[in-house]
Amino acid sequence: MISHEKIEKNVILMLVLILITVSVGGLVEIVPLYTIESPIEPVRGVRPYSPLELVGRNIYVREGCYTCHSQMIRPFRDEVERYGHYSLAAESIYDHPFQWGSKRTGPDLARVGNKYSDDWHRDHLSQPKSVVPGTVMPAYPWLARTELDRQRHEIEGCGRRIADELGIRMRYFAYPVGLPESFDFVAKRMLSEAGVRLAFSLYGGYRRRGHRDPYDVPRASVSISMSDADFRAMLIAPGLFARW
Ligand code: HEC
Repeated sequence: MISHEKIEKNVILMLVLILITVSVGGLVEIVPLYTIESPIEPVRGVRPYSPLELVGRNIYVREGCYTCHSQMIRPFRDEVERYGHYSLAAESIYDHPFQWGSKRTGPDLARVGNKYSDDWHRDHLSQPKSVVPGTVMPAYPWLARTELDRQRHEIEGCGRRIADELGIRMRYFAYPVGLPESFDFVAKRMLSEAGVRLAFSLYGGYRRRGHRDPYDVPRASVSISMSDADFRAMLIAPGLFARW
């Protein structure tokens, strides 16, 4: 038997032994792959992405979400208990380039589907802190913006419908998303051109002294389930009800 001391003091001998060990390991892993037809086992339910899914995937790549998120659950107990079944090769078969990622500032997203509602995702992407206080994920408010042509089309459509159905001109407008960065001066100008006098945003809060923008009037949401006391409190201390 060669003693450890001898191996550690003889570079050539150590090199030869390392090569033998690595080759055995390599052969054990590689040779069996030649005996099977495909190393990727098919998984039921895996199909090419739909056009809408591809559009979403392109946004994921464009915005660099992969710099903080992985999409590959490793076969370790802690990962499987947190995220679900570990990722299989076949699940990425239509993913070019694959989005496995290697950095996890945020959690793995391979099985995040159906974990939250669409509303949750909308809030989370527009302003992550509104649903996860203390998160370091950046906000992506521009994902809720609409192209200029479409904005004009929607504003004019609203005005036409109000004129058709009620026979009056559109004077007031509520932004569909209405977060601080989801409408800008162009949208305001379009509204003013369409004859709108007041436009309501949707990030909560109340009109403070000196805030005079008629195209960014804060509004609060009121629901039937709200108690009288809550409603009164909201009128008296609107600051407490501001979302952010
Ligand atoms: C700077 C790093 C960073 C970037 C870039 C980033 N995220 Fe995140 N993300 C996080 C962190 C941290 C969390 C965990 C806290 C939270 O939920 O906000 C998270 C959580 C999430 C979650 C919820 C995961 C769960 O299981 O709770 C989703 C979905 C998500 N991010 C999607 C995205 C998308 C889509 C993008 C790109 C548009 C993106 N993230 C970009 C850091 C990031």
